[in-house]
Amino acid sequence: MYPELGFYDIPEYKRTKHVHRLHPYLGKFIPQLVEWFLSRYFKADDVILDPFMGSGTTLIQGNEMKMHTVGIDISPFNCLIAHIKAAKYDIAKARAEILEVEQRVTLFSKYLTNSSEADLTFFPENRMENLKASLLQECNSEYLRTWFAPRDLLMMLYYRRLIPHYQYQDLLRVVLSRSVRSSRLVPHYDLATPKAPLPVGKQYWCRKHNRFCMPLDNCITKIHTYSGDTVRRIAEFDKLRSNKTIAIIQADSRDVYLPAKLANTALANRPIDGIFTLPPYVGQIDYHDQHIYAYELFGFPRQDELEIGPKKNGKSKQAQQEYITGIVAVFKNLLPIVKSDGRIFVVANDRFHLYPEIARQSGLRIID
Ligand SMILES: C[S@@+](CC[C@H](N)C(=O)[O-])C[C@H]1O[C@@H](n2cnc3c(N)ncnc32)[C@H](O)[C@@H]1O
Repeated sequence: MYPELGFYDIPEYKRTKHVHRLHPYLGKFIPQLVEWFLSRYFKADDVILDPFMGSGTTLIQGNEMKMHTVGIDISPFNCLIAHIKAAKYDIAKARAEILEVEQRVTLFSKYLTNSSEADLTFFPENRMENLKASLLQECNSEYLRTWFAPRDLLMMLYYRRLIPHYQYQDLLRVVLSRSVRSSRLVPHYDLATPKAPLPVGKQYWCRKHNRFCMPLDNCITKIHTYSGDTVRRIAEFDKLRSNKTIAIIQADSRDVYLPAKLANTALANRPIDGIFTLPPYVGQIDYHDQHIYAYELFGFPRQDELEIGPKKNGKSKQAQQEYITGIVAVFKNLLPIVKSDGRIFVVANDRFHLYPEIARQSGLRIID
């Protein structure tokens, strides 16, 4: 009916423009899809809610269009990604911090690789051995010790240790997380759903690059790439953003009491004009697990058991029933604060044809 909604002619760099590519996230939609609907059905100053916020695409696009946005997600790391996209930065300061950390880790990396350029005055030998030992002592994650080469592990632990000394700590966490994701001991073509770690230095046939590759054992090249890329992206969004409110709430959308969460924001007592969301699909993705490396590195609390429709529960009839119950609970919880003529857009690959029943149980009418 709307062939343009395929967005086949939009090149990748536009689908991932500015902050939309600050961190990989499996299962997000593209800003152009959000823009298409928001521009037709809402206006500036409206309040748009996304109860399955994920990495925050709705929030960023809505803000660019001068709308207030509210996002809820159960996963603390997804909230962190959304938060660093939405945050307002002193760009010069953010750039200086990111580049200083990169420089310090580069020095450390040179020492670890015995480069002749290693600045031994900065890391005197005896101090260095103590530093390495104490970094390893701080790592009690079996996952990190298994999925990263020993040198890589030391570098990420060193970067992590530097973070508390800076103002933009979450931004630094995201640069680090993005870098370590790409430097796990996994094939380059399998970064989203790796099965098992490869041995350090083991060659494999790479379907992505069409040649033999080796898994990375040193995240410094990624840190270098993503440090510059992050600065460029936040600076780009800074020129486009509006001053409308962006509220990010880490909670279960089935039972969060939104008015209390918004009470101390500019959106207190404001009804919601509409919902635009991409819910999880039945048995498709484990949203915490896709960022397991970040949970292990930063120790964020996990709430996997509160995810609706996780992959680990499969796609059985029972899983579908639980999914219906979950999504209905979200609508029943949140509809009371949506305007009675508010519009709700749900981007769903409804292969099991569950949404007519979800709408019925939620007291909603499917228009299209
Ligand atoms: C398909 S993703 C949303 C992607 C998002 N539109 C984007 O562009 O990044 C679905 C999200 O729903 C979240 N989720 C799952 N169960 C939830 C629950 N009970 N409450 C709130 N969020 C939940 C997951 O953590 C995941 O981030």
